[in-house]
Amino acid sequence: MKILLISSSPRKKESYTFSLAKEVLGGCACEGAESETLHLCDLKIDFCHSCEACHKKIMSCPLDDDVGMILEKMLKADGIILASPNYINLVTASMKAIFERASHFIHCQRLLGKYVAGVVTSGSGRDEQVLDYIKLCANACAAQYVGGLASLGQEICGKKEDAFELGKKIVLDIKERKLFPEQVRVIERFKEHFKNLITMRKLDWPDEYKYWQDKCWL
Ligand SMILES: Cc1cc2nc3c(=O)[nH]c(=O)nc-3n(C[C@H](O)[C@H](O)[C@H](O)COP(=O)(O)O)c2cc1C
Repeated sequence: MKILLISSSPRKKESYTFSLAKEVLGGCACEGAESETLHLCDLKIDFCHSCEACHKKIMSCPLDDDVGMILEKMLKADGIILASPNYINLVTASMKAIFERASHFIHCQRLLGKYVAGVVTSGSGRDEQVLDYIKLCANACAAQYVGGLASLGQEICGKKEDAFELGKKIVLDIKERKLFPEQVRVIERFKEHFKNLITMRKLDWPDEYKYWQDKCWL
């Protein structure tokens, strides 16, 4: 089983968020999962130009950067840990840019069957909005969100056990193929919306339309 940690603090190894996320990976390893870490600050990430190339031809993008590689790794992972500091009550711009570049994942439910957990640290401890946003993005791509952990940056030492438990939980939920009924309903609503959109735009987005046809979702 593969767990991908995407860490978006520019402080990299000094980062409180990454330190906490490493404890989550410790819990994953304890349950037998392999993990890989990507630090977004090491990678070239451009902003979406809204050219719709990825909707016309799946996974194609004219931008020459590292986002294609990140998205491929997300598709290969069983579980994804999204770790971000709270920047103005949201994830960092680098992580938001990844979500924007992954709109095809939303159109085509590409994280269906995968599991996501969130890790956030901040200066205030008011992080619910950030974790809720990570959950929303996971559900929009059809992934189940197993839970999130937030901490004041200075207080991560007191959250290490919770982080370890979150790591164990994501692996156990993956093994059990656990479904969270309230999220299944949210995912169904997203699916209904995108079924209509993909049908309406089938001439503009032929590859995404074909993806839906091949899945027998239309
Ligand atoms: C640009 C920027 C915006 C921030 N915005 C918030 C915020 O809205 N609320 C908050 O509580 N902390 C905010 N902080 C503080 C960070 O979330 C906090 O220091 C966090 O623990 C840093 O994590 P890191 O060590 O992983 O980089 C902000 C910090 C920066 C640099």
